[in-house]
Amino acid sequence: MNRLAGKRALITGGTSGIGLETAQRFIAEGADVLVTGVTPASIDKARQILGDKVPVVQADARDLDAQRGLAERVREHFGELDVAFLNAGVSDWRPFEDHTEDSFDRLFDINVKSVFFLTQALVPVLSNPSSVILNASNSAHGGYGHSNAYAATKAAVSSLMRSWNADLLRSHGIRFNAVSPGPVDTPLYSGAKLGIEDPAQQTAVVEAISSGIPLGRMGMPEEVAEAVVYLASDVSAFAVGLDLILDGGQTVL
Ligand SMILES: NC(=O)c1ccc[n+]([C@@H]2O[C@H](COP(=O)([O-])OP(=O)(O)OC[C@H]3O[C@@H](n4cnc5c(N)ncnc54)[C@H](OP(=O)(O)O)[C@@H]3O)[C@@H](O)[C@H]2O)c1
Repeated sequence: MNRLAGKRALITGGTSGIGLETAQRFIAEGADVLVTGVTPASIDKARQILGDKVPVVQADARDLDAQRGLAERVREHFGELDVAFLNAGVSDWRPFEDHTEDSFDRLFDINVKSVFFLTQALVPVLSNPSSVILNASNSAHGGYGHSNAYAATKAAVSSLMRSWNADLLRSHGIRFNAVSPGPVDTPLYSGAKLGIEDPAQQTAVVEAISSGIPLGRMGMPEEVAEAVVYLASDVSAFAVGLDLILDGGQTVL
């Protein structure tokens, strides 16, 4: 299929999980893609998977100069940008009492502050019309144990998505939408990123998460990627301010 033929697209956090799957789906749909990541091994792996034609740029979300530099890199590479999937993010599920100022700041720096200032830097680069999709989370739409600060970052993302339509749709032709996945089977649930070393305990945590989903399983990255393709494509041109919850029924049931 060619639903994104001719589209020039940026995917942040395109080196792993949902972002990497979306990058592959975008390419298959005819888009030219530039992705970002931060971890050298992850960047190398993404280069192998995505091939020589796809720039894989290291741009740490915690470094605002790197985010502004990324917008400049995008301008140099593409001229203008038709689609941005702002997906890079981290989770940190821990009891409310265990959060520190550092853990709180890390979540907000990566998940919110970087999205805010990268979007600001991208405005002059985005074409008219263009589509920006933010990766929020179903945790922004319900109350989930241990999600507290993480959920708050995603609620901020969802709120920014709505505000930016007011700021930028009429004036710049940029439409903003979001996806809000529930638990999706990605490296986010691997030991290192979950902070759990013991494989048996990891499995137990993932099983506990899955059993809390009415559909009885975690989502797959391609199920989110497909929604992002829709929001990126011209088929969704009338969709503005959607926050698509993809969570196997967790929020409504
Ligand atoms: N998986 C889920 O259940 C789920 C549910 C709801 C929402 N989400 C959201 O979906 C997004 C992607 O998550 P995922 O599950 O695909 O996780 P993932 O496999 O861990 O991928 C995260 C991506 O973000 C990048 N990243 C992390 N920290 C970064 C930083 N400081 N600067 C730049 N890039 C950084 C990673 O780069 P490297 O690989 O180079 O480190 C990677 O490409 C996140 O925003 C997450 O909150 C995930």
